[in-house]
Amino acid sequence: MPELAVAVLARDSEQRNILQLMVEGTRVARAVLSFGSLPLSPADPIVRRLQEEHPDVLVLDIPLNDAPSALRAIEVLHQELPRTALFAVGSLTQPQTIVMAMRSGAREFLERPLTTNMLLEAFVRLSTTQKSAQRNGVRGKVFAIVNAKGGCGATTIAVNLALALQAAHGQAALVDLAPLGHAALHLNLRPSFTAYDAIRNLHRLDSSLLESFTTRHAGGLQLLAGASSPAEVQPSPSEVARLFDLLASYFQFVVVDLSTRMDAITRLVCDLSQTVLIVAGTDVASLWSAARIQQFLCENNGRDRMHLVLNRFRKIQGFQESEAESASGLSLLWKVPNHYPAVSGAIDRGVPLMQQNRSDLTRAFTGLAEKLTETETAAKRPTWSLFKIG
Ligand SMILES: Nc1ncnc2c1ncn2[C@@H]1O[C@H](COP(=O)(O)OP(=O)(O)O)[C@@H](O)[C@H]1O
Ligand SMILES: [Mg+2]
Repeated sequence: MPELAVAVLARDSEQRNILQLMVEGTRVARAVLSFGSLPLSPADPIVRRLQEEHPDVLVLDIPLNDAPSALRAIEVLHQELPRTALFAVGSLTQPQTIVMAMRSGAREFLERPLTTNMLLEAFVRLSTTQKSAQRNGVRGKVFAIVNAKGGCGATTIAVNLALALQAAHGQAALVDLAPLGHAALHLNLRPSFTAYDAIRNLHRLDSSLLESFTTRHAGGLQLLAGASSPAEVQPSPSEVARLFDLLASYFQFVVVDLSTRMDAITRLVCDLSQTVLIVAGTDVASLWSAARIQQFLCENNGRDRMHLVLNRFRKIQGFQESEAESASGLSLLWKVPNHYPAVSGAIDRGVPLMQQNRSDLTRAFTGLAEKLTETETAAKRPTWSLFKIG
């Protein structure tokens, strides 16, 4: 018996028919509605019709020649039907569209040409996620950590921020995309798999497979480990976008360590992040670098999401925080105090600061986590399952 009610929106009639047939072909869903146009405002009659029917899933085809309208429609539908999961179908050759679709509220980005099997997998993923994580269509937030230059403290901050988020909210993941991954050392973990293994298996990646690629830290934080050799074959930005699409549907918070990595992947991850933290010291060289990196990352705009974190901070006579802001071109979000023996000891022993009783450093990371989640509301929504009874 069909379980999921699905609405199909596609301007192209052939594509619409194909999508409807595929929905029915999965045998776990039924196409209850279909529309040949995309609603561009909440007042559109399509929105009202959808609100009456309240389907579980909307499958929306992004036309190749008019992505902006589709993105607008995703935004409108996400806002007007917050409990409905939105699947966008489009071309994987346009990473920017994937990022925009996710930001507008799409839960899955499915590659065209779609197959019945891909759609079935997405339905199963949706069901598994809702059952295991109770995320109920709310997408997780991605926080990217970049260093102004090597050694500024990106990994230290990424690891401890992820632990602080896990302690406060649960459902946090740390993804290590540094050219050589140090996060596992900081956490004293010995991962069997890395983020690159997950990317190589994207075609069949669902929540349980994703989980099998992660390594669990004692408090529940899941690490998607980094490369243990600089020779790792680099994925394309589209593949990374797809990985983050999945990560954001399984985890409430995804912290990404991008230390010493400045390429198209860093730019893409920063594009899809809620907040980007550029970690620098109070020295001229790192503030100068922070300004250059900020310019590189802001090419696709988003400057308001980028902030400065001053690490190894101590009061220096004559040093003004406003000078750090004007030198870097970034607003200062947070300061982490300078404690070399404690920080280097934590790394060497693989016992992160968040696991120790270093009150000022622990407070700094807990405070940063609180600052980044200020607007987080405990969204409680009814759940459903693909295999529901009755
Ligand atoms: N708040 C801090 N106080 C003192 N030393 C620090 C602090 N944060 C980091 N360090 C030191 O800086 C070194 C580099 O930190 P790391 O997090 O690996 O930087 P990155 O990832 O930016 O290269 C570490 O070995 C650590 O000892
Ligand atoms: Mg690092």
